[in-house]
Amino acid sequence: MTAVINTRESVSTTLSVEPIAGYIGAEVSGVNLADAFDERTQQALRDALYEYKVLFFRDQKIDHAQQIRFTSYFGPVTDAHPLGYTDKSPADYPEVLEVDSRTYASRSGSRKYSYANFWHQDVTALVNPPAVTVLRGELVPEVGGDTTWADLGAAYDNLPSSLQRFLEGLYAENRFGGREKRWESGSESEAVTSETPIISEHPVIRVHPVTGQRLIYVNPGFTSRILGVSPSQSDRILDLLFAEITNPAITVRVRWTPDSIGVWDNRATIHQAPTDLDHLDVVRVLHRTTVEGDVPQGVNGLQSRSISGEPFFARKSA
Ligand SMILES: [Fe+2]
Repeated sequence: MTAVINTRESVSTTLSVEPIAGYIGAEVSGVNLADAFDERTQQALRDALYEYKVLFFRDQKIDHAQQIRFTSYFGPVTDAHPLGYTDKSPADYPEVLEVDSRTYASRSGSRKYSYANFWHQDVTALVNPPAVTVLRGELVPEVGGDTTWADLGAAYDNLPSSLQRFLEGLYAENRFGGREKRWESGSESEAVTSETPIISEHPVIRVHPVTGQRLIYVNPGFTSRILGVSPSQSDRILDLLFAEITNPAITVRVRWTPDSIGVWDNRATIHQAPTDLDHLDVVRVLHRTTVEGDVPQGVNGLQSRSISGEPFFARKSA
């Protein structure tokens, strides 16, 4: 491996990228994320992300500012969350969302109400869901708490062409609470969003804006119903799609280690937060940053529609 250092501000590095599962996921070594990278290295990182969809970096002791800079290689960095949650950002870093197992437990009284415990993509209630998510493990348990991702492109490819064509003409509603909120409103989990509801309709099959790959674009965390069909038909279509996109054959499962950093293409993957920690007395603290997303495009010109709420843009630099 070669590493050529140009200046302290702009480092050029040759990445070492090792796949860690059959469809998606790679570990990247040979880089120090405390450095600022030149454009060539940034492009190599983006190319690796589009190819493997989930990247992991180990033993990277970086701070919030360095995480934000690293995130910016993939696009404009948004604030932590469209619903605010400013109490969950570190002082002076509104872009960083602190994911602390203790906070989630106390916020809702029970972790079971967190959408993170379901398979999901990040914030697909938005008309422009984040394109890329970065998560930095600061305090992680020695065992347990793995995160799993699945490949939405492989899920699409596994469908027969007749079913692909049928799905390519459909839209699905996405909102906080997902299917639990599909035909009614006003109950417990809606309280979080009632003042600022964010609801969007996305094409069920999305075309990736960079790779052109077709992706099944529904998720149990946010997708509430398929439009244009009956409630029972919607249920059956979503049951089928949720089974396809969570097929273990197309997943990668990664164990967090101290100072590890995960990056995923939030358009091309779905992920599940750990579900094996609730009975353990462990603390898990991670820091999340996200990249501004584009408005999804489907096949044949279908485009996402905002039903309620504003697009979520990165703040303009002053
Ligand atoms: Fe997530």
